Amino acid sequence: MKKKILNILLNNKDYISREKISNLLNISRTSVWKHIKHLKNEGYIIDSISNKGYKLLISPHNLYKEEVLKYLKTSFIGSNYLHFSSIDSTNLYCKNNYNSLPSGTVIVSEEQTNGKGRLDRYWHSSANKGLYFSILIKPELELKNAPKLSLIISTAICKTLREHNINALIKWPNDIIVNSKKVGGILSELIGDMYSINSIIIGIGINVNNNKDDFPNEISEKASSLLLESNIKFNRAKLLGDILTTIEKYYFDFLSNNFTKIYNEYRSYSLLIGKEVYLIKSNSRIKVKIKDINVDGSIKVSYDNNTETDLMAGEFSIRGLENYI
Ligand code: BTN
Repeated sequence: MKKKILNILLNNKDYISREKISNLLNISRTSVWKHIKHLKNEGYIIDSISNKGYKLLISPHNLYKEEVLKYLKTSFIGSNYLHFSSIDSTNLYCKNNYNSLPSGTVIVSEEQTNGKGRLDRYWHSSANKGLYFSILIKPELELKNAPKLSLIISTAICKTLREHNINALIKWPNDIIVNSKKVGGILSELIGDMYSINSIIIGIGINVNNNKDDFPNEISEKASSLLLESNIKFNRAKLLGDILTTIEKYYFDFLSNNFTKIYNEYRSYSLLIGKEVYLIKSNSRIKVKIKDINVDGSIKVSYDNNTETDLMAGEFSIRGLENYI
């Protein structure tokens, strides 16, 4: 009900009386008052004048469907949209419920208490600061093409951030980097068997309006947020709507065999091509040069003895020779 009231306020430029809201929703006037109070507690600034009613003045841009919808120009991604105030992990929710959820479902949470990162890491997800969401896709895709999907998504995110004047780059395979710091990442999980894919869960985490003290000490050197890197406070609802819109566009392009175009764009955003880095696995590290990112999503690396090999993501991490990158 609270969200319905929010929707009415969002769609009314002028004051709307408590009576009118109660009639529209068939609830008591006291109930309207209670829900308005909840919205105010969430950070919505709502003016109330006794003989005129309520008017929404400032929105904290929560990620309710009602807030994101006006920026969402999609027909498939987000057509089913679930919003949580807090959840353990949006990927985990998707994994536990994929059977009953339609393809294109988006699960969004304002906070995650057990966010998952790649390589079994933890994804710190402080409340109301970032974007933490998963997209469920049930594609008719050969298994070998699955890595392409994450590549498409990171390209779409990078493109959207650039449209918002953020000079984002991609650290292979899918880290989103601004000013040499990680502001976002993607965790893709596959449900299927050895031969075919049932579902792909694409989990996306982006640090948006986080301050320095929102990050735990151990990652504060390499992690950052869009706010910290640009000094711009973002409307998270708009950013999410814009990202999902670009993701759908790129996904449809991919389905209509335009992958090469996206792949070339991905390469143009790549931070690693041509760089010398360490490949790190358990306690050992080896210096390599990243020659290229291959069309199947693997990297081509050369060793000091000039031999070359292709490597898929998954078992090692990459570090710059001096810093994080
Ligand atoms: C990475 O390690 O770079 C990937 C991080 C992915 C985090 C996102 S946040 C939303 C979704 N739910 C999760 O538990 N993880 C992903």
